[in-house]
Amino acid sequence: MNTRQVMELWKAWKADGVENPETLPKHVAIIMDGNGRWARKHRLAVSRGHRQGTEALREIIRHTDDLGIGALSLYAFSTENWNRPQEEVAALMQLILDFFASEIDELDEKNVRILILGDKGALPEKQRETLIEAERRTAGNTGLRLNIAVNYGSRAELARAARLIAEEVRDGRLRPEEIGEETVAGHLYTAGQPDVDLLIRTSGEMRLSNFLLYQNAYAEFVFPEVLWPDFTVAEYDRCLEIFAGRNRRYGGRQA
Ligand code: IPE
Ligand code: IPE
Ligand code: MG
Repeated sequence: MNTRQVMELWKAWKADGVENPETLPKHVAIIMDGNGRWARKHRLAVSRGHRQGTEALREIIRHTDDLGIGALSLYAFSTENWNRPQEEVAALMQLILDFFASEIDELDEKNVRILILGDKGALPEKQRETLIEAERRTAGNTGLRLNIAVNYGSRAELARAARLIAEEVRDGRLRPEEIGEETVAGHLYTAGQPDVDLLIRTSGEMRLSNFLLYQNAYAEFVFPEVLWPDFTVAEYDRCLEIFAGRNRRYGGRQA
């Protein structure tokens, strides 16, 4: 998509009576849910559902980049997902390797900067090395910030931030009375990035499941019914249109 096509999108939204047709989010977060139900629906193994999910993922990353949205955070594997059957966890771990093997060249070429949210230390060695390498290779890029949450839990992230801040206080680099909201934000994995503007969770579930609790404080939530492997660019545009029609007040009283 180019600038002209973005303008076309906005014109269409305006024609639909959307309130703020030029408003694109700066940061989109997506809980990619419904792979298991998609597999069941098609009488396929759950691992096939996850694989199909990565196909949707490719298109959504590309479209986010085309639209010029600054940051995209994707929930790929939660700290609670370790509780799934061992076979399924193994399939998801394999998909991580496959995804980076097939996508890293194009992402790097497109100037995408990859950041992994979550504790890489607890991952199997191959996965850990792949993720560290993807971050290292794209660290100097200045385009779309692609945050991929792997072994991520928001409560663990907040506990980690508290630990890092406590260490600075202990070492005399920070005084307790200096600790403010920015201090907390600055010790999250997403430090330096804008808050989430739009949170999308597919498959009709309406919960956060421990994803970016702090960063979603004033996010707009959209819950499309569609299962993640069926989530298309058209569905994504519809979510963006809904976002553009929302009236964000942040506790104030502006119209
Ligand atoms: C989301 O799909 C992907 C991951 C959690 C990795 P699910 O596997 O949770 O799909 P459902 O919720 O069972 O349909
Ligand atoms: C959240 O989905 C995690 C990911 C999408 C990676 P889950 O399917 O694991 O969440 P719950 O169990 O329905 O809350
Ligand atoms: Mg699920």
